[in-house]
Amino acid sequence: MPTLGIIGSGNIGSAIARLAVAADMDVVIANSRGVESLQELIAELGPLASAGTVEEAANSADAVVLSIPLTAVENLPAGLLRGKIVLDTSNYYPFRDGRIAELDTGTRTTSELVARWLDGALYVKAFGNILAHHIPLLSRPGDAPDRTVLPIASNDVQAKGQAEAIIRRLGFDTLDAGTLAESWRFEPESAGYTRIYLADPSTPDEQLLASVASPKSASQVKAALDSATRVNVAERAF
Ligand SMILES: NC(=O)c1ccc[n+]([C@@H]2O[C@H](COP(=O)([O-])OP(=O)(O)OC[C@H]3O[C@@H](n4cnc5c(N)ncnc54)[C@H](OP(=O)(O)O)[C@@H]3O)[C@@H](O)[C@H]2O)c1
Repeated sequence: MPTLGIIGSGNIGSAIARLAVAADMDVVIANSRGVESLQELIAELGPLASAGTVEEAANSADAVVLSIPLTAVENLPAGLLRGKIVLDTSNYYPFRDGRIAELDTGTRTTSELVARWLDGALYVKAFGNILAHHIPLLSRPGDAPDRTVLPIASNDVQAKGQAEAIIRRLGFDTLDAGTLAESWRFEPESAGYTRIYLADPSTPDEQLLASVASPKSASQVKAALDSATRVNVAERAF
């Protein structure tokens, strides 16, 4: 049985943990406050899940979901994820993360920056363009006709293949969205970002957290990525 490490037990990390145990995967999950703070979640997830330190979540698995604030990623122990498949959900929100010049100038995409921080990791950008509460709403069994497609990006073709297999098991199909340099197409505010999974595209921002989701096919996600224009991150106030 494969083990999935999950670093970050917040909105996205816990949503993915629920899918993983439902897919019969062992899960080791970590956060910043430590194992005691995870007991309620572990009880909910059941016997396939355990709580660990960040190091235990990284070391116990071949693949790790990384879902913590961007500034915390930069401060992870050096080499923590070397040799691991990493599914990184990070986005850059200046109001939360502070201004990062190379992102504001477009010198790098967020995923290029994170991949550089995670020295030696087999890095894949995934699950960063879907609202956390849409994850359980859109996950489907493997034979369902209405599986939703998530874009993934990586500079490592093999890592992308392994990420695809994991994501398929979690209930989604994937679309190869190219390299990390191209991943701005599904960063915040772009055409490939969270709004593509809304049932009602006119949903106001303040109602997003209660929004209804609708499945999206590969052709629909590809059309969104193809239509994307690069956001001027420096102009973003949030
Ligand atoms: N929420 C969404 O709908 C959504 C959608 C797409 C992408 N994203 C992106 O995905 C990332 C995570 O978002 P989220 O909404 O899941 O965040 P969140 O709910 O705020 O959860 C963040 C998690 O990171 C943990 N954490 C913080 N610093 C840590 C550290 N140094 N070591 C280990 N764990 C640490 C926190 O642990 P403690 O609770 O113990 O502090 C918490 O479990 C962000 O970059 C976000 O922008 C979010």
